[in-house]
Amino acid sequence: MEWFPAYVSKIEKELEGLNLPQSPEGLYEPIRYFLGIGGKRVRPVLTMLGAELFGKKHDETLAQALAIELFHNFTLVHDDIMDGSPIRRTFKTVHVKWDVNTGILSGDALLIMAYQNLIQGDSTCIQENMELFNRTALEVCEGQQLDLDFENSLDVSVADYLEMIRLKTSVLLGCALEIGATMAGASEKDRKAVYNFGQNIGIAFQIQDDILDLYGDSGKTGKQSGGDVINNKKTILHLSAINNASQEQLEIIKQLQSVQDPVMKVERTRELYDQLSVKANCEEHLKQYLNAAMTALNEINVPSENKSKLEELAHFLIQRDF
Ligand code: IPE
Ligand code: IPE
Ligand code: MG
Ligand code: MG
Ligand code: MG
Repeated sequence: MEWFPAYVSKIEKELEGLNLPQSPEGLYEPIRYFLGIGGKRVRPVLTMLGAELFGKKHDETLAQALAIELFHNFTLVHDDIMDGSPIRRTFKTVHVKWDVNTGILSGDALLIMAYQNLIQGDSTCIQENMELFNRTALEVCEGQQLDLDFENSLDVSVADYLEMIRLKTSVLLGCALEIGATMAGASEKDRKAVYNFGQNIGIAFQIQDDILDLYGDSGKTGKQSGGDVINNKKTILHLSAINNASQEQLEIIKQLQSVQDPVMKVERTRELYDQLSVKANCEEHLKQYLNAAMTALNEINVPSENKSKLEELAHFLIQRDF
């Protein structure tokens, strides 16, 4: 991954080049803040790699890569409101540092800025990119709605969960890659394959995110530890626990849903999950999606050296601790 920082710095440069207006400060300062506190920048790099995979120079896709990153940041600002999350990227979330209205409106503006960048440059791809982007954006909303609905449900299946994370997280990774591929003139079949690769790494990525939520070091993840437990999120950890629990343990899991003290709730949940080897089970699940992703990548008809960065990135995404 020694190549990765150079790709990220191109995205950072694009972000700096946005030159946001100074006023109204209440709108633009939170955006400057949020874009300035880091983030892995994985999705825009996927757009760059999607283009390179099919032989195009990634510099010609930077505006679209930026669009993907802006859209992602929009979803995070609103997600933090919806999840009541106090911290992101080790800093205060926008709605905590300012207020909920600020989070709503600066998120909206980030979405609009994403569109402004999506339509830059080569006009031959605008229609196709726009259609894919719009379909993806609506799917992310659908996934986010299901994620919220599931907080109040006790009979979410693994299949329900997988569809929810496909929508809220995976489709954007697929979209990021496919936009790059489309701009490189890839065939319909290759575009589908690269999208499919993105979806599978996206599912593995969200499973890792769920694992890190409870088992990660909050100093590294930059997020509150156990936020999903506090919110009764039906993560893969929860489902793995339910599916392996005894009658007695099931009863405890049910009772834990209504515990008010967040520290006690997270601690007791972790104890129970440890008894049920939840973390290891979820890691097994994750590996299946990584393998499916690699199979999809193998099917793409380009020289194997074109694929090596994507392979490396996929492995990084599931081994990361932040
Ligand atoms: C967080 O995404 C949201 C999920 C879909 C899990 P990232 O982990 O990519 O967040 P940043 O951009 O690096 O902060
Ligand atoms: C977020 O999922 C997915 C989107 C932002 C669309 P999470 O709620 O699990 O993401 P984090 O853990 O807050 O980053
Ligand atoms: Mg969240
Ligand atoms: Mg969420
Ligand atoms: Mg999460």
